[in-house]
Amino acid sequence: MRIDLLAAAEVAPGEMKMAWVNGTEPVLVVNVGGDYRAFQGICSHEYFELDRGFLTGGSLTCALHLSRFDLDSGEALDPPADQPIARYVVVVEDGRVQLEADGPLEVNE
Ligand code: FES
Repeated sequence: MRIDLLAAAEVAPGEMKMAWVNGTEPVLVVNVGGDYRAFQGICSHEYFELDRGFLTGGSLTCALHLSRFDLDSGEALDPPADQPIARYVVVVEDGRVQLEADGPLEVNE
């Protein structure tokens, strides 16, 4: 199943934006040098929206307690987070960033 997230043009390289699937499930879209990636939108440590954090060379920092997450694997690189953030499969088609999902979105917490 494909889930439409947002227009590719809405997220410039080096930026990120939250998409709300069904209006309730936050999915973070990150543009890493033209490569679109999607992750769970909420930190794996506590309930905090990751689009309020910041991107630095290959990682995403949660603004609440400053854990960093790897933008390839989703792994937590520093405490206090010890769970990875889930990464989803993304397809860009007709200028839209879309998520490929077989069922409910995995979310680590
Ligand atoms: S809520 Fe993200 S590191 Fe604590």
